[in-house]
Amino acid sequence: ETKPRIPVLWLHGLECTCCSESFIRSAHPLAKDVVLSMISLDYDDTLMAAAGHQAEAIIEETIEKYDGNYILAVEGNPPLNEDGMFCIIGGKPFTEQLLHAAEHCKAIISWGSCASWGCVQAARPNPTQATPIHKVPGIPAKPIIKVPGCPPIAEVMTAVITYMLTFEQIPALDRQGRPKMFYSQRVHDKCYRRPHFDAGQFVESFDDEGARRGYCLYKMGCKGPTTYNACSTIRWNGGLSFPIQAGHPCIGCSEDGFWDKGSFYQH
Ligand code: SF4
Ligand code: SF4
Ligand code: F3S
Repeated sequence: ETKPRIPVLWLHGLECTCCSESFIRSAHPLAKDVVLSMISLDYDDTLMAAAGHQAEAIIEETIEKYDGNYILAVEGNPPLNEDGMFCIIGGKPFTEQLLHAAEHCKAIISWGSCASWGCVQAARPNPTQATPIHKVPGIPAKPIIKVPGCPPIAEVMTAVITYMLTFEQIPALDRQGRPKMFYSQRVHDKCYRRPHFDAGQFVESFDDEGARRGYCLYKMGCKGPTTYNACSTIRWNGGLSFPIQAGHPCIGCSEDGFWDKGSFYQH
């Protein structure tokens, strides 16, 4: 409570904004407490009152005032093709804004599968050359915390920020750069349908008897056995449910390349 609020610049590249939509639904802590009491959200295209040149000027002010001491949170990614013309912010390619803000930050948080892996806009043949943050040429050697998921779980997002503010360090990361505390187990490891998997009881088609009985969704394409995320432990909407509990297989939305690996229905 006595710590100064750490400045955060939250940039948006190619994305759908549902990472922000997830974030504002955090129940523990409430997103409003994070934004009003824990961080100083100095710039966020979707959550700020300022607009136009005034908004862009805030980035320069923050860099000047807090050089090396602010967190850069990135939602979405830059398209590198055609000199970045597929995503223009304030009259310039998003890539420029990203590299400039990254140069002076303390650490980068890559929100969601867009910033962490590329996501659907990077799907083959990736015409805009959408590129995840850690692979952008010229990105400075700053710590990058990947928080993948499409979107990430709200409480995972706010917990990562809370951890960084409380302990004044970045959380322990796995080999892929994800916080171990939320990404070290597979959805399958804690799935409540797991006893049915072990017993060989599977849903064979949507709405069959097995589906009504809550059997395992593996034969419906569930990617839970290869997906590292906290959905089966923390769940969504304040712990209410998660895709598998709603009767649908996990599509592995937090895994690198899920969009090109047959997770979606084919026609
Ligand atoms: Fe949207 Fe998914 Fe990208 Fe987040 S990771 S901005 S939810 S497409
Ligand atoms: Fe594993 Fe998916 Fe079956 Fe759950 S529904 S036990 S995650 S295969
Ligand atoms: Fe995504 Fe699978 Fe969780 S689809 S939301 S990682 S259950």
